[in-house]
Amino acid sequence: MADILNDKRILLVIGGGIAAYKCLDLIRRLRERGVSIKAILTKGGSEFVTPLSVSSLIEDKVYQDLFSLTDEAEMGHIRLSRENDLILVAPATADLMAKMACGIADNLATTTLLASNKQIMLAPTMNTEMWKNPATQANIATLKERGMLFVDPADGDLACGEVGTGRLAETEDIIATIEAFFLSKIDGPLRGKKITVTAGPTHEDIDPVRYIANRSSGKQGYTIASKLAQLGADVTLISGPTNLATPNHVKRINVTSANEMMENTENTLPADVVICVAAVADWHVKNAGEQKIKKQNGEFPALEFGENPDILKSISNHVTRPGLVIGFAAETENVLDHAKAKLDKKGCDWIVANDVSGDVMGGDDNQIHLITNSGIDTWPLMDKNSVAAKLASKIEEYFKE
Ligand code: C5P
Repeated sequence: MADILNDKRILLVIGGGIAAYKCLDLIRRLRERGVSIKAILTKGGSEFVTPLSVSSLIEDKVYQDLFSLTDEAEMGHIRLSRENDLILVAPATADLMAKMACGIADNLATTTLLASNKQIMLAPTMNTEMWKNPATQANIATLKERGMLFVDPADGDLACGEVGTGRLAETEDIIATIEAFFLSKIDGPLRGKKITVTAGPTHEDIDPVRYIANRSSGKQGYTIASKLAQLGADVTLISGPTNLATPNHVKRINVTSANEMMENTENTLPADVVICVAAVADWHVKNAGEQKIKKQNGEFPALEFGENPDILKSISNHVTRPGLVIGFAAETENVLDHAKAKLDKKGCDWIVANDVSGDVMGGDDNQIHLITNSGIDTWPLMDKNSVAAKLASKIEEYFKE
């Protein structure tokens, strides 16, 4: 198969962050893959990399000035914003994103971005406090809502000497996200299929400051949602509280309690597939305190529990039941017996049984048995991304059949 990146045209906007030097390597890797690149170097960006380095690597001129007579005559900002298949902002600084969120057009980069009718992808980088600042997070949420794609920054040592989130994503991760974007444009095998995925834990309030929950990072559900979206499916992710970024091309609905998760999952019906990956709490507290419950000299509050709705079971028995309903079974012993019993009890079509006797919760590896009415398929130990890819390809096969 031809390289998905071959002959793609990317407009690279280089913002003013120390990580701008990393975009030189990014350019080389993209050029090796046959990508043609036009580049806008912001004033800040040019403090970190020279126009000559960028120009040599892209084998083209570098655009810097909004009011350059020659540049505007040759290729104005409107053409720059149009004649590409993707606009990549790397590094995307807090300032650049704030301007984009407000629609400010005060230089060549911001004007081109505002004038664009193409997909924009941002790879942010900044000091961790700048990243966490509610202003930055609000701007990112706004840009995401407007359909912009993100390659989230990584955790680690930052150029400023601090440690935290804010490092520019690795070149491979940026390229993987670009690939995923172009892959999602092709007519994927799951195009037109509506799939709902539940993920993460639910939190059941004890009072305004305390809750009960299951241990769940949400990673497995998120990777499944992401893989299905890459195959062209229309994916809605109903997510309990997690620290994970929304996968590209996935619609995410945040919920807290099991009841909310049930209601929102039901609202996505009719759907072609529902996959319940969430670790839903089995009970909620019926007498949850409206105010913080105070300690009472050695006496303990008598919590009364009520049963939560079983989302998987309800969807499996719903009047508008999807053709394929998939559940997960996290078991620490007798994995197969328990999982087979769960298939019957819940009335779903497939159970993805995972052995959680090791370090699965929050970890990266998973031992899976896929249990269906026609038998058991045991997969080798693999990471959660591979589990997601394999499950996605099983779903693809299901639709072919
Ligand atoms: O009964 P158990 O919690 O072990 O079942 C696990 C499966 O059922 C998972 O797919 C989980 O997402 C789903 N489930 C659910 N609603 C519940 C409990 C579990 O959807 N209240």
